[in-house]
Amino acid sequence: MIEDEAVRRWRAAAPGAVLLDGFHAVKHALRFGADIRAAVTADKAATLRLAAELAPDLTGRLADQLSEIPAGALRDLLTRVHPTGVAGLAARRDRGANLADLARLPRLAPVVVLDQPRNLGNVGAVVRLAAGFAVTGVVTTGDLDPWHPNAVRSGAGLHYATAVEHRDAAELPPGPLWVLDPEGEDIRATALPDDALIVFGSERHGVSDELRARADALVALPMRAQVSSYNLATSVGMALYHWAATSRSPLVPGLA
Ligand SMILES: C[S@@+](CC[C@H](N)C(=O)[O-])C[C@H]1O[C@@H](n2cnc3c(N)ncnc32)[C@H](O)[C@@H]1O
Repeated sequence: MIEDEAVRRWRAAAPGAVLLDGFHAVKHALRFGADIRAAVTADKAATLRLAAELAPDLTGRLADQLSEIPAGALRDLLTRVHPTGVAGLAARRDRGANLADLARLPRLAPVVVLDQPRNLGNVGAVVRLAAGFAVTGVVTTGDLDPWHPNAVRSGAGLHYATAVEHRDAAELPPGPLWVLDPEGEDIRATALPDDALIVFGSERHGVSDELRARADALVALPMRAQVSSYNLATSVGMALYHWAATSRSPLVPGLA
């Protein structure tokens, strides 16, 4: 039966694959060239109606790639079924290609560095920002995997739209280190270079002494006295907005 075959294909693809949890994750992964190994739904007609409304560019590909399986089988495959009732499995983006993208010079859009982040929701939110601002990529240091399923979930499948990799602090890509810290100079007085590594500290401890010591510049986001700091992902959003507002790079969305 077709449904058994779809379940078998899912189970065979699952080890080592990235779970795309929900319609938006599958949509973004497809748009940005992910190698989708399996995609399932309990109601293909409803999913295609959703696609016609939200992603008409993908209706044909979803019609080809989505398999319908019974709701019970979907629940068996997934620990939690997304409200949109859709899930996919994709190969992780190639690490060698990501590292080459991150290292390539000249660089026309910054790399975001998250120094030892603790919260996978923040990591995914930052990947989503990096994708939206079309920056070169996101590098994390520390012990979290930026491709952890919870980070991919909050990144809405946009890990395929930018280069996301873990590196040791000693092996960051080349480029000047612009460190975001409430103690720095007002960011509005300067423009962030297109080739910068824009560094953000961990939620609890801020930027490590090691990266602070290597900083080429230390800059602060405007903040009222008595407020200690902003959330990590919102800080990245403000800094990337500042880059986009001041850069003449052809990669700034809407400038080309
Ligand atoms: C939640 S904050 C870290 C707070 C931490 N307790 C500290 O002492 O820095 C996470 C990161 O967001 C960035 N950040 C937050 N507020 C900022 C601000 N006003 N200016 C510049 N960066 C900021 C910094 O990179 C910071 O390390």
